[in-house]
Amino acid sequence: MKSKRILSGMQPSGKLHLGNYFGALKNWVSLQGEFECYFFIADWHALSSLYEDPQRIKEYSFEVAVDWLSAGLDPEKSTIFVQSEIPEHAELHLILSMMVPVPWLERNPTYKEKKDEIKNVDMSSYGFLGYPVLQTADIILYKADYVPVGIDQAPHLELSREIVRRFNKLYNKKVFIEPGAKISDIPKLSGIDGRKMSKTYDNAIFLSDNEKQVRKKVQSMLTDPARARREDPGDPQVCNLYPFHKIYSSQAMQDEIASDCKTAKIGCGDCKKMLSQTMLEGMRPMMEKRQEILSRPGDVQEILKEGTLKAHAVAKSTLALAKQTMKLK
Ligand code: TRP
Ligand code: SF4
Repeated sequence: MKSKRILSGMQPSGKLHLGNYFGALKNWVSLQGEFECYFFIADWHALSSLYEDPQRIKEYSFEVAVDWLSAGLDPEKSTIFVQSEIPEHAELHLILSMMVPVPWLERNPTYKEKKDEIKNVDMSSYGFLGYPVLQTADIILYKADYVPVGIDQAPHLELSREIVRRFNKLYNKKVFIEPGAKISDIPKLSGIDGRKMSKTYDNAIFLSDNEKQVRKKVQSMLTDPARARREDPGDPQVCNLYPFHKIYSSQAMQDEIASDCKTAKIGCGDCKKMLSQTMLEGMRPMMEKRQEILSRPGDVQEILKEGTLKAHAVAKSTLALAKQTMKLK
């Protein structure tokens, strides 16, 4: 019996790339053995930036589910579900919103950053300010002990703990538990142009890319900018491509490349060929699994349906307890 519970979610805002995989998903996959896991598609959260074209959310949700399953999330081990299928998330969000002071939300650094960063959509909505309140509802409905998140999400989690303390104190009962952050160390991976890997920068390698696309993207990767000519020695430490070797290539190959790059014994073209090879080997199991999954898309729907059924029962019982405690029921 796994005693501690993990919960995490992702917004379905497009297909997932290697940055998402090494930043979160890979970690989720490995947590499955040790913890009771709940993973969900945060489609209501996605609405905060996609409210102008909500029809894309369904499509993206399916893509994310396929990415998850291809990467190794296992419905036998984890409960995989869709947020908007469980109205308790919205109801608890509403209840919490009545007791969360607005200044708590306004001082959230992620809120300020994102609001300034996203230019193509107006992010000054009421719902976006309350994003961490909905996120808190997501977590505490399942009494999650830990939430695996990136370091950028740590302030959200601190806020969740504050909200839990406030609720439990107001109604004098430990209905909810304070979730802990499970922050994993994430390898630094940039996109093919050297900026942070992101769908919006058009610099990402997607989990769903085929062999040809992967090769082409690796070929166009930025390398050590000082290495203008083949004869110039390079420095793997400043090269945008080398971190990928650290993930995908053997230690022996990494050492060889590092020394041959510094003496200009190999060119970046050779180095890229080696990377394409090891990267594709690394991605192959995922690529094969994807084909298998896509040949039976009905199974994906079935997995989400079953996960949602199971999650719904938990959410219902927690919300009922919260309402009883508040004497609303
Ligand atoms: N904010 C998360 C993201 O976009 C998604 C999310 C929503 C989440 N609710 C959550 C993550 C609860 C962890 C726990 O990446
Ligand atoms: Fe980077 Fe490889 Fe070129 Fe060196 S040889 S600069 S490690 S791509």
